[in-house]
Amino acid sequence: MRKGLIKATDSFERIVHWCLAISCLILCITGLGMMFQSFNFIGTLMGGLKSLKYVHNFTGIFFAVSLFFTIRMWWREAGVLDLPDDWEWIKVAGGYLWHVDKVPEAGKYNVGQKAFFLVVAGFGIIMILTGLIMWSPLSFPAWLVRWMFVFHALGFVAIFAFFFIHLYLGTVGSPGSVDAMLTGWVTRAWLKKQHPKWLREMEENGTLEVFGEEKPGAGHGHGH
Ligand code: HEM
Repeated sequence: MRKGLIKATDSFERIVHWCLAISCLILCITGLGMMFQSFNFIGTLMGGLKSLKYVHNFTGIFFAVSLFFTIRMWWREAGVLDLPDDWEWIKVAGGYLWHVDKVPEAGKYNVGQKAFFLVVAGFGIIMILTGLIMWSPLSFPAWLVRWMFVFHALGFVAIFAFFFIHLYLGTVGSPGSVDAMLTGWVTRAWLKKQHPKWLREMEENGTLEVFGEEKPGAGHGHGH
């Protein structure tokens, strides 16, 4: 670890993120394996379509638990718009779509990231509810179960589409970002560019944790 790096996430945040991410991706892959004949080979790899469904359903439970923790830890930072600043960000689309001289500053998460969080949280809950009903189809009226298949498929399209944007912007599209979810330590330059308001907040209330320096609030000194 390089001296001077700043802590952006704690290990709990990273563990929850990867539990959510991995379970979500397994669900997408196994779901596709059930939905389309051309993807049935995914079931064959897992010992048949029956085991594929088991993997899918039980991963769904793992996803539900991960989503619960994701929403609990991030809803304040990623689920609520910070007005009027976020409105300014929306008006220029965060500078992602056309040239903008000065992109409005973002806090821990910008509106694009908040949108992804809300899609995952909202459609994630829909996936869990519709999935649970589809798990025991005979316990519910047939018309209801039929609608569940429709909403389950729609939710998949929404989450899967957003995932590719997230994957791109979390890696090559925004160099340095992936460190926030791998080691948790990021450069000051990255924070200044991606989350300037958050950096300032941490500096102001003394919660900024710099690698190689004393932890804030850990006693004497003030970490210079
Ligand atoms: C497998 C590839 C993935 C990579 C490389 C990745 C990377 C990242 C990174 C770097 C961040 C922090 C960004 C920042 O602080 O600016 C982040 C946040 C986040 N990730 Fe992922 N992620 C992946 C998959 C997923 C999946 C599959 C989900 C959801 C089902 C997910 C949900 C989230 C959420 C909700 C956040 C919070 C902020 C936001 O909305 O962007 N991630 N991810």
